Amino acid sequence: MLTTQVPSIKTALPGPHAKSILTRDEQVMSPSYTRVYPLVIKRGFGATVEDVDGNLFLDFSAGIATCSTGHCHPEVVEAVQRQAAEFLHMSGTDFYYENMVALAEKLTQITPGYFAKRVYFGNSGAEAIESAMKLARFHTRRQHFIAFINAFHGRTLGALSLTASKTIQRRHFSPLVPGVHHIPYANCRHCSYQMDYATCDLHCVEHTLESVLFKTVVAPEEVAAIFVEPIQGEGGYVVPPRDFLPALRRITDKYGILLVLDEVQSGMGRTGKFWACEHFNVTPDILISAKGLASGLPLSAMVARSDIMNWTSGMHASTFGGNPVACAAALVTIRLIEEHYMSNAERIGNYLMQGLLKLKERHSCVGDVRGLGLMLGLEIGAAPEITTDDRARRDAIVQEAFQQGLLLLGCGESGLRLCPPLVITHEEADVALRILDNALSTVPSALSTL
Ligand SMILES: Cc1ncc(COP(=O)(O)O)c(C=O)c1O
Repeated sequence: MLTTQVPSIKTALPGPHAKSILTRDEQVMSPSYTRVYPLVIKRGFGATVEDVDGNLFLDFSAGIATCSTGHCHPEVVEAVQRQAAEFLHMSGTDFYYENMVALAEKLTQITPGYFAKRVYFGNSGAEAIESAMKLARFHTRRQHFIAFINAFHGRTLGALSLTASKTIQRRHFSPLVPGVHHIPYANCRHCSYQMDYATCDLHCVEHTLESVLFKTVVAPEEVAAIFVEPIQGEGGYVVPPRDFLPALRRITDKYGILLVLDEVQSGMGRTGKFWACEHFNVTPDILISAKGLASGLPLSAMVARSDIMNWTSGMHASTFGGNPVACAAALVTIRLIEEHYMSNAERIGNYLMQGLLKLKERHSCVGDVRGLGLMLGLEIGAAPEITTDDRARRDAIVQEAFQQGLLLLGCGESGLRLCPPLVITHEEADVALRILDNALSTVPSALSTL
């Protein structure tokens, strides 16, 4: 257990040990990774990360919204150790073990919908998205998909076909899976800032589908599924207006299209409910979970209505998907989230939101502040005119926060995302707000002197 005051930065960053690892990393690692600052972790506990030089950071990234119960939650670690001592792997695609079944049973209970469900396990978000694309095509015998501008569903070729977050992620990787059509999400800037948001957006999505896409590009009878994040993650932590998801549900019901909700980032209690779609009373046909599902172990799940999952033996499988150690971690994670951390996410999330709104009052460079629970975003600059300077300022704030011991990530065009582990306390929230306040004060003047 780490007991010192956090953060505590003792060396210049990166410190000497971190520097030597960065030098080695540069020689051998894929240059495609997106590291924005040189954090080299040695160990973590709760929302604290210690680097290899003994510096302590407050983690408001949670390994990209993944360490849901914090770093090394003792009960998760204990479950992992116990399972690891029994057996590490036995390929659930070819054999049976109990905790895989138990986890599937639990997932069918905690996901929305009072109907029979089945679960397919993968290792990553992208892999679960791939499985949903295949299942949707197989079940409906339709070929087309609809996804959203600014969506992020992963980087494997199928998932990438749905992703429309940054062109760098797609450039020179085509041809992708054909038949994917992208339409604006609920953050059409022209609409949302010039008209009443909810009315405009409802109009946008129904109008775009019914009066434009289905009339000019693809017949609805050819669409297998609509893939959507209930709250956009990489795209900017965008919470859609209340009727956006219900409108999609109405349209998908009308045309027999499957509604696939990607809860990879928004799920597992992060928004104060198990699944973000519960805030909107929408039940998907297929729900995708990953990231926080096993508190940091690689695991993803596709939970689908039983009547949809009508593929048969041999059609889809993965050697490691539903690995027993990851399943053990997930079972404890779900229990902890249910018992403690979902309500904590709501409580501390509301507290942080109030703090962020105060920062917005104090700092003219802060635009929109948004989010639910511990999925909170803060935009630098005011839409619809986000400038290069806003983006540079956002990047500089992330760097400055790191120097002061707070781990943050960017999202969207010029957003900062706060996605701490669900275990954080009021005191840790105060520390993060104080550092963010400092960084917001420091960075604009620093930039203007460039
Ligand atoms: C909403 C969403 N879907 C899918 C993915 C892909 O998950 P993975 O990186 O585990 O493949 C991500 C990753 O950030 C995500 O945020």
